[in-house]
Amino acid sequence: MAEILRNGNLYHIRNDVISYVLMEMPGGVLAHLYFGARLEGLNAANLLRHANIPSDDGFSVQECALDRLPQEYPSFGLGDMRDGALTVEGPDGSWAVDLRVEKAETLDAKPVLEGLPATRGEGCAALRFTMRDAHTGLVALLDYAIYDDCPAVARSVKLVNGGEATLKLTRAYSLCLDLPDDGWDIITLPGAWARERTVCRRPLAAGHQGISSRRGASSAQASPFLALARPETNQDRGEIIGATLIYSGNFMASAEVSQFGVTRVLLGIDDRDFGWQLLPGAEFQAPEAALVYSDEGIGGMSRGFHALWENHLLPKRWMNRKRPVLLNSWEAAYFDFDHDKLLAIAKAAADAGVELFVMDDGWFGHRDDDYTSLGDWTVDRKKLPLGLEGLGKDVRSLGIQFGIWMEPEMVSPDSDLFRAHPDWCLHIPGREAIQSRHQLVLDMGRQEVQDFVVEAVSKTLKASGATYLKWDMNRNFTNIGSAALPADRQKETAHRYMLGLYAVMERLVAAFPDVLFEGCASGGGRFDAGMLYYVPQIWCSDDTDALCRVEIQCGTTILFPPSTMGCHVSAVPNHQTARVTPLETRFAVALGGSFGYELDPCKLTDEERAALRNEVDFANRTQLLRLYGRLYWIQTPFNGNDAAWMSVSEDRKEALFTLVRAMARPNAMPPMVRLAGLDAGRRYRVAETGEVFGGDELMRVGLCCPLPYGDAASLVYTLVAEA
Ligand code: GLA
Repeated sequence: MAEILRNGNLYHIRNDVISYVLMEMPGGVLAHLYFGARLEGLNAANLLRHANIPSDDGFSVQECALDRLPQEYPSFGLGDMRDGALTVEGPDGSWAVDLRVEKAETLDAKPVLEGLPATRGEGCAALRFTMRDAHTGLVALLDYAIYDDCPAVARSVKLVNGGEATLKLTRAYSLCLDLPDDGWDIITLPGAWARERTVCRRPLAAGHQGISSRRGASSAQASPFLALARPETNQDRGEIIGATLIYSGNFMASAEVSQFGVTRVLLGIDDRDFGWQLLPGAEFQAPEAALVYSDEGIGGMSRGFHALWENHLLPKRWMNRKRPVLLNSWEAAYFDFDHDKLLAIAKAAADAGVELFVMDDGWFGHRDDDYTSLGDWTVDRKKLPLGLEGLGKDVRSLGIQFGIWMEPEMVSPDSDLFRAHPDWCLHIPGREAIQSRHQLVLDMGRQEVQDFVVEAVSKTLKASGATYLKWDMNRNFTNIGSAALPADRQKETAHRYMLGLYAVMERLVAAFPDVLFEGCASGGGRFDAGMLYYVPQIWCSDDTDALCRVEIQCGTTILFPPSTMGCHVSAVPNHQTARVTPLETRFAVALGGSFGYELDPCKLTDEERAALRNEVDFANRTQLLRLYGRLYWIQTPFNGNDAAWMSVSEDRKEALFTLVRAMARPNAMPPMVRLAGLDAGRRYRVAETGEVFGGDELMRVGLCCPLPYGDAASLVYTLVAEA
């Protein structure tokens, strides 16, 4: 049960598994004392001695004590020599801030973050500190929420100009976490297009380290996440703290080890491309950050994040609900299709039991390649003479749903939209507009652009009767500038873009409650908790090669549950790697998320088509277990030839086990794999072999896994507890 305890100037936020402790110092500086496993109580004397601060009320900022004091929301320039969370330019041109506590209050309800995605307020206890900088009048509201049912604390900061002069925020991070030592490894999720979320782990070193994105999106190259793990922490044991931002734009995640060997974690909107004018009385809401602690290793932290998103962030109407098995036309047809070809694909898909056919890129304007027509969301009658209405109707007459692709945030220079509104894209007047994939980025911060996008998407959904929309976004920001903002506020552009995008998503999700929105950004280039507030699933990667996908899915599930990952079986040779892998393995890997296909079933053999029917049936039968069960990575794919993972139902009565071996090994004994997450006291039947084993035996002795011959071999076992 989440609770907030106050003992004098100590504030103890805790639930059954974690504690977070803060202290108001004499004079009002807010110190951070602890984040970790649940404590019964805490005596601040330790910390004060550690920071070499007298324990009477003699705490004095002038003595540079701030440089040693662990703090909640520090700033630079008045004694603390480390990087700070906040910088504000005042009317005198200075940028130091000195926040002191004015008030602390427990709240009846977690405050809503205006205009931003955030964890929802049910089942949590909430605490707010009101802080003020006497020099500028700036007020900071530091909000904390702790949940009953997961080892997570959500934090956010709202800044209010309570002074008389205009202020300029030049950094407004969401989180600072000061830790009393540097005995940690830092884990981040860097990547690239088609290689999203690889896992990077290295020991902390003196100075700064971290990861950031200035691409306008959280990006394939970096995720707004970092974790600190003790050097001995592995997948299932040891201490780890994870921090992430519920935001989809530019970010900075850094860890600084200072001269005293203590660690400061900072997380927020990257200030290099940020600035915000704050008129007297105006407010700025920084994105929410979430912290998870576990002493059950990386897997424990991941399951903590999964529970946080599943119980408190993802769109409620999709939670614990079946997702349609879909077939997407992209790798089946690319831009080369017409009504009849798509219908033939849809029919073959329907025959195999697929429930939703998705028409990808190429249906609008005169888009026969990626050079043109983004923004002109009118159907290309040459390809689809019966229009969206006709195709949607014909697909539905096969007894399946129809879905559609759009890239609403973009405009092609060759489009009627661009010709009519050349200033609607991000641009710097007088500079050449840098194109990427031959397209420009609409300035989503502008109301008229938001209205245009809402209307274009609404019309498309209505005309087609689509019950699914793949919302794509295929380039990074350059030429960051907005025609709607004056020169001294250009640095607001990127964040205003995100606020505009979120406002649009909010309107569309409300207007089309039954439509399943799937996010995409050249694959998983904007896979973050911000987007997941609106869309329950995101296309995980354009790389559909089974062996690459195991790595991408493993990295993604460090932070996000299987239900959020769009995972499809594609054709061989694979379009990204030219690798040929068995259909069974492509299937086994795609079962790791929201399942579907990315191929032309008309081109399959009869035998493969029959296999497809069985696959769809199996994917459906195991769906709730796979998508919402507890995930255990028994072997991650990064260090060896084998990868193995399990989904275990909450009551531990059912489990699905998957093993993938990249390269065949001659003359090898079948591996014995020790399972995880089961109930040691139960007996489980392996449905595929009919054998029965004790849960303790499966976890301590292991399960013998005779893999088929050949490279990229796999094995999937369903375990059901005996009554
Ligand atoms: C991006 C997506 C693909 C596909 C294409 C269409 O690359 O990631 O899945 O939709 O755009 O142009």
